[in-house]
Amino acid sequence: MKKEFSVVIAGGGSTFTPGIVMMLLENQDRFPIRKLKFYDNFASRQETVAEACKILLQERAPQIEFSYTTDPEEAFTDVDFCMAHIRAGLYAMREQDEKIPLRHGCVGQETCGPGGMAYGLRSIPAVIELIDYMEKYSPNAWMLNYSNPAAIVAEACRVLRPNSKVLNICDMPIGIETRIAEILGYEDRKQFDVMYYGLNHFGWWKEFKDAKTGEDLMPRIKAYVKEHGYLPPSAMNGAQHTDESWKDTFIKVRDVYALDPETIPNTYLKYYLYPDYVVEHSDKVYTRANEVMDGREKEVFTECHRIIAAGTAKDTTIEVEEHASYIVDLATAIAFNTKERMLLIVPNNGAISNFDPTAMVEIPCIVDNTGAKPMQIGEIPEFQKGMMNQQVSVEKLVVQAHVEGSYQRLWQAFTLSATIPSASKAKDILDEMLEVNKEYWVELG
Ligand code: NAD
Ligand code: G6P
Ligand code: MN
Repeated sequence: MKKEFSVVIAGGGSTFTPGIVMMLLENQDRFPIRKLKFYDNFASRQETVAEACKILLQERAPQIEFSYTTDPEEAFTDVDFCMAHIRAGLYAMREQDEKIPLRHGCVGQETCGPGGMAYGLRSIPAVIELIDYMEKYSPNAWMLNYSNPAAIVAEACRVLRPNSKVLNICDMPIGIETRIAEILGYEDRKQFDVMYYGLNHFGWWKEFKDAKTGEDLMPRIKAYVKEHGYLPPSAMNGAQHTDESWKDTFIKVRDVYALDPETIPNTYLKYYLYPDYVVEHSDKVYTRANEVMDGREKEVFTECHRIIAAGTAKDTTIEVEEHASYIVDLATAIAFNTKERMLLIVPNNGAISNFDPTAMVEIPCIVDNTGAKPMQIGEIPEFQKGMMNQQVSVEKLVVQAHVEGSYQRLWQAFTLSATIPSASKAKDILDEMLEVNKEYWVELG
C-alpha cells in the first residue's frame, strides 16, 4: 500500500481552503492523506470553513481523519506536511496596504511596492511562528509555504531559519503558463519545458519549449503577446484571475514585453515599470481588496454557511482549485522522490552566475526527497540584473528592518523601491503605514 500522509493547512479560514480541500481529494491516488487538520488563529472564521469541509469530507472521503483547532500543539503534532497560506491582518489590512500609497500617488498593491513591504513586516513574525511550531511538534515535517509576500517571507526564512524545511512557492508563473497553453492550443502547461528566472513576482521566461519535440515556442508566444498580452482567445471560465482588474493586468503585459522582446515577463513587472499608468488606472476608494471582500470572500463564506445549514455538500458550487495541484506536485515530489521540475524561491547560490549569490531567486528546481535542487541559469542580461539588484536590496532591507527593529532600514527600503519616486514620499507613506500596523510590526526604533 502507498504511504499515507498527515497534513495541516495553516490558514484554515482562508478563502482558498475549500478549493484546496477539493483539489486534495481529487489527487488522493497520487498523494493519499490519512489525517487532515486545519489551523488558524481566528477561531470563528476557521470554524465556518472547517464545518463545511467536515461535511464535504465525510461524504467524499470518510477515511480521512479530519479536525480543526487554534491550538498549535494539537495542530502541528504528528504532521508530515504543513501547507501554509495565512494572511496576517486579513483583507482589512490589505485594503490599507493598497489605499495608503494610492493616496500619496503611488502604487497600492498586495505584494509590490509599499503595500508589499507593509504586508511583509506583518507576515514575517507570523510565518516564523508557524515554522517554529512545526519544528517543535513535528521536527521531520516540511512546510510548503505560499503565504505572501513570498519574496520577503522567503528572504526572512533565509536569514532567520536557514536550516528549516520550508519551500516557498508562487502560483503566478503557473497561471501564466496555463494561459500560454490555452493560447497555443496545448492541453496542459506540463507539456512545456521552461527556463525562468527572477525574484518572486519579478521574473522573466527566457525559454519555452515543447517538452516532447523540443520545438522552440518563443516565436509563437511573442507574436501573440505583442498583440494581446496574456489575454487568451477564450474566456477561460472557472479559471483563476478572471476579474476585470486581472484582465487589465494581462493586457498590460504587451507594454511590459515591449521593453525586452528577448524574454516574456511576469505580469507583476507592470507595477515597477509602469507605476504611473497603474496609479492613473487605480480606483483609489475601491481597490482589489474590496473586490475580493465583495467577491471571493462573500461567495466562499456564503457557500460554507449554505452547506452547514443543508447538512450536505452534495450539490456544492465549490470548485476544485485545479491550478493549486502544484501544491500536490510539490508534496509528491518530496514524499515520493519524483524529481519534478518546478519553479521555487530559493537561495541563488551561483545559479544565476552574475547575480548576488545570497539573493532569494525564483528559478526552476528539481524537487526530490531532500528538497529543491536549483538548476543553472547562467548569466542574465544587464536590464534584468539592474532591476533585480535594486529590488532584491529592497527585500533584504525590509527583513533587516524587522531583524534590527530599524525605522532607518525600512525608510531606505521604501526609498529604493522603483514604485516610490523620492525619499520624502517614502517617508510620508511609511509613517502612515506605521501608524496602522502598530499591532503587527516589530517595534521600529
Ligand atoms: P484569507 O484572509 O481569506 O485567509 C487567511 C487566513 O489566515 C485567515 O483565516 C486568517 O485568520 C489566517 N491567519 C492570519 N494570521 C494567522 C496566523 N498568524 N496564524 C494562523 N492563521 C492566521 O486570505 P486569502 O486571500 O485566502 O489568502 C491566503 C494567503 O495565500 C495570503 O497570504 C495570500 O497572499 C496567499 N496566496 C498566495 C499565492 C501565491 O502564489 N503564493 C496565491 C494565492 C494566495
Ligand atoms: C496571484 C499571485 C498571488 C496573489 C494572488 C492575488 O495568484 O501569485 O501571490 O496572492 O494572485 O489574487 P487576488 O485574487 O487575491 O487579488
Ligand atoms: Mn504569488
